[in-house]
Amino acid sequence: VHYNVGKNLADKGNQSAAIKYYREAVRLNPKYVHAMNNLGNILKERNELQEAEELLSLAVQIQPDFAAAWMNLGIVQNSLRRFEEAEQSYWTAIKHRKKYPDCYYNLGRLYADLNRHIDALNAWRNATVLKPEHSLAWNNMIILLDNTGNLAQAEAVGREALQLIPNDHSLMFSLANVLGKSQKYKESEALFLKAIKANPNAASYHGNLAVLYHRWGNLDLAKKHYEVSLKLDPMAPGTRENYNLLRRKLEQLQKKGGA
Ligand SMILES: *[C@@H]1O[C@H](CO)[C@@H](O)[C@H](O)[C@H]1NC(C)=O
Repeated sequence: VHYNVGKNLADKGNQSAAIKYYREAVRLNPKYVHAMNNLGNILKERNELQEAEELLSLAVQIQPDFAAAWMNLGIVQNSLRRFEEAEQSYWTAIKHRKKYPDCYYNLGRLYADLNRHIDALNAWRNATVLKPEHSLAWNNMIILLDNTGNLAQAEAVGREALQLIPNDHSLMFSLANVLGKSQKYKESEALFLKAIKANPNAASYHGNLAVLYHRWGNLDLAKKHYEVSLKLDPMAPGTRENYNLLRRKLEQLQKKGGA
């Protein structure tokens, strides 16, 4: 009963109350692995990593085939920067649950943190094989390929992802960025606009569309979208600088025009 009350509270977002009930459940039944797992998870989210690790380690000690607890333990170990243990925990989770897309996703994040790019891409690919609508895994693949200069591959993966999840604006945004860098301005613009239509209040969407117009030489539209972006997020890194550069350029053009 304490476990169920805790779970209801946690589902409603009342973490601190949930913690009390889960603790009581574990006190009454010291081998209650599901209570340990849920409690460990909440503590992990509140960055109480030490106690989270103790609970999750205990849970997998009591029940060694508890895949979710292994994955959560891996996430905590990853946060504690104990990467080798985290990797082991993820693989143990996968051993006990063959179809575990979220675990492959987390494994990929670990490999990306370690700059093991090929492994990261393979892990995210595995996540999307098991769960084709795993938007975060697709997005991370596109962004990693983009950041490492593999624009053609990034574009191919982006197109593949959007065929599977056509309405995902974060995928539209990532692919639009790649297309802009590949100087496919027209298609990039169309995708940015579609992403903005689906999610109008993302400062970065307007900011990056502005950069695209700026590069493309469409200065009026660049100015407009820099301004929208700054209105939505006045502190957005880089946007203010780009905007100021653009304004200086526009002033010079005006002077020349007047002369
Ligand atoms: C991806 O899945 C394949 C096939 O199950 C497996 O052999 C491989 O080790 C996995 N790699 C990663 C990095 O997840």
